[in-house]
Amino acid sequence: MSSLSTAKQQARRQAASRALDLVSEGMVLGLGTGDTAEHMIRLLAARCIPNLTCIPTSVRSEILAKQLGLHTLPLDLLAANPREKNLPSIDLTIDGADEIDPQLQLIKGKGGALLFEKIVAQQSGTLAIVADQDKMVFRLGQTTSLPIEIVRFGAPQTLQTLQKHSQEATFRRKGSDLYCTDSGHLIVDFPIEETWQETPELLHQTLKLITGVVETGLFLQEARIAFVGNFDGTVRIIEK
Ligand code: A5P
Repeated sequence: MSSLSTAKQQARRQAASRALDLVSEGMVLGLGTGDTAEHMIRLLAARCIPNLTCIPTSVRSEILAKQLGLHTLPLDLLAANPREKNLPSIDLTIDGADEIDPQLQLIKGKGGALLFEKIVAQQSGTLAIVADQDKMVFRLGQTTSLPIEIVRFGAPQTLQTLQKHSQEATFRRKGSDLYCTDSGHLIVDFPIEETWQETPELLHQTLKLITGVVETGLFLQEARIAFVGNFDGTVRIIEK
């Protein structure tokens, strides 16, 4: 867990705890990634809810869940054994976010797990977001860059293409190496210029058309509910 202020950690914990009230016996539950999701996973394990199947969105969350005794399954195995065809394979996913706007549109991926997070979110009946109040913004891109997952082949060329839309876009690094995702891809951190901030859907579509881009951290449709922990100890619930 990172060294964030106690108030921030407490707000994240409170938000995670409230979101966990949505979890009931026998559910298939998607486990998000990041510090707030880590609070959620720890609190989940402490609740000892029977017959849960947990679908992690990253190696990091999978390791933690297993250490805490939660039953995990890779999404691939869940899909190979579908339940009712008309129902989503995952009942509920609880995950963090880097930014949340008033319409519950999100930027995700600062933790590098955006691709698996989006696949799991889109297979979920409900995506519940847990965050502290600092994650709320008026427009996406105000406080953080947009993470974009790209393939390694031709990565410098893909970056150059991305820089046509955001001059300051750069590869994410981990020490002296390029940051590598659980899928072996790279991440480009892409500051969203003001004109693009007004049209996140168009930005997402434009980026997705660039060959070499795997996925963007814009989650515009997926979230149904957000639990936002305030520093005064209250939790604000925003629903779509
Ligand atoms: C992981 O790739 C991200 O999408 C996280 O969910 C997001 O960065 C929020 O993480 P924190 O709870 O650590 O801020």
